[in-house]
Amino acid sequence: MANASGLVAPTLPSLRRRFSPTLGVYRSGFWSYDGVSRRMVCSSAAQGAEKLSPAESKARSKGCKLVGCGSALPSIQISNDDLSEIVDTNDEWISVRTGIRNRRILSRKDSLTALATEAAQKALQMAEVEPNDVDLVLLCTSTPEDLFGSAPQIQKALGCSHNPLAYDITAACSGFLLGLVSAACYIRGGGFNNVLVIGADALSRYVDWTDRGSCILFGDAAGAVLLQSCDSEEDGLFAFDMHSDGEGQRHLKAGMKEDNTDQELATNGSLLELLPKGSSSYSCIEMNGKEVFRFAVRVVPHSIELALEKAGLGVSSIDWLILHQANQRIIDAVATRLEVPQERVISNLANYGNTSAASIPLALDEAVRSGKVQAGDTIATAGFGAGLTWGSAIIRWG
Ligand code: ACO
Repeated sequence: MANASGLVAPTLPSLRRRFSPTLGVYRSGFWSYDGVSRRMVCSSAAQGAEKLSPAESKARSKGCKLVGCGSALPSIQISNDDLSEIVDTNDEWISVRTGIRNRRILSRKDSLTALATEAAQKALQMAEVEPNDVDLVLLCTSTPEDLFGSAPQIQKALGCSHNPLAYDITAACSGFLLGLVSAACYIRGGGFNNVLVIGADALSRYVDWTDRGSCILFGDAAGAVLLQSCDSEEDGLFAFDMHSDGEGQRHLKAGMKEDNTDQELATNGSLLELLPKGSSSYSCIEMNGKEVFRFAVRVVPHSIELALEKAGLGVSSIDWLILHQANQRIIDAVATRLEVPQERVISNLANYGNTSAASIPLALDEAVRSGKVQAGDTIATAGFGAGLTWGSAIIRWG
């Protein structure tokens, strides 16, 4: 399988190496009062974290930070021209309306679970964390390969031999954001130390390849981050904001397929005929693109503004804006509304399309490995999509 790191510098950026407490390296953090953000400097070494007993260390480890990321992509690439061979569309329409030029698709024999495992392995490698030190695996996906969840298969494939908890989170394109915040809660309140958050989706399996209004949008991918416990002064999740609106589900869904034959047979009165056949499946994605577009440009800027307010930060504190990669026009509209200059907006949508829960960690991973996003940078990130769900977080990389 090809991967996003093909685009990157050969040396992995190692945050752990860069910030090893024993080296006494000073780290920057943020604090605020009167709504004005300030940078402050603290020293991990000065706090003597390594001299604390495990119990003391646990009690003081109230923060979490992002210390590793990784991504993986299927090798099959489909261009706009390729799509124009199966539906009535063309490269110009797709690229002007969406910004998308290519997308990657899992072949029928490829496994999303394997792709997610590859992304997670890369995140662990960058963080220099062993699989046995992982104590939670959160797989954010709406397309698991097992109805009961695929996360435990990733835990097994990674070789986390002491059986850490692993489970799936289903929230479509907001999934990764929800996973990130969930991981932070486990670390801050639950004594967890190393949490893998993986966003992986293969929406190509649920796309109606005859619907030109939706099939042009989606691609498959996996991305992952490792969130690690740290002192509260180093905390890298400044604030978040999250919402759902079940009312809007009618605009974007992939519901269970109805089986009308059962109802007809049931009139014969047999219990067996009343029971489901045991071959339930989901329909393809049904989307009202215009409504979803309006929803996104309305809620995302507001959500980021709320998160910034909670963090006590202004827009000028944002080094990078990394939105769910759904449509370049949505990304541009949000950036314009927030007055974030284009050069601070991360976008890789042209290459991969909308990869659902994978899009944010995939974009982050490419930006980190290419050297764009540096340790200490502040990132405003936001997810939005089916549910409807949406949310944002203000984070610091490294
Ligand atoms: N190629 C050529 N023409 C097309 C295509 C296509 N692929 N698709 C639609 N058209 C035509 C339509 O038939 C219509 O023709 P008409 O004017 O003769 O009726 C015309 O182009 C305009 O169609 P619209 O649907 O109005 O186009 P719009 O500008 O709204 O763009 C799009 C459609 C790209 C889907 C846009 O609405 C969008 O990106 N919406 C957001 C989708 C999104 O972000 N979804 C998130 C999903 S995430 C998750 O949770 C799964």
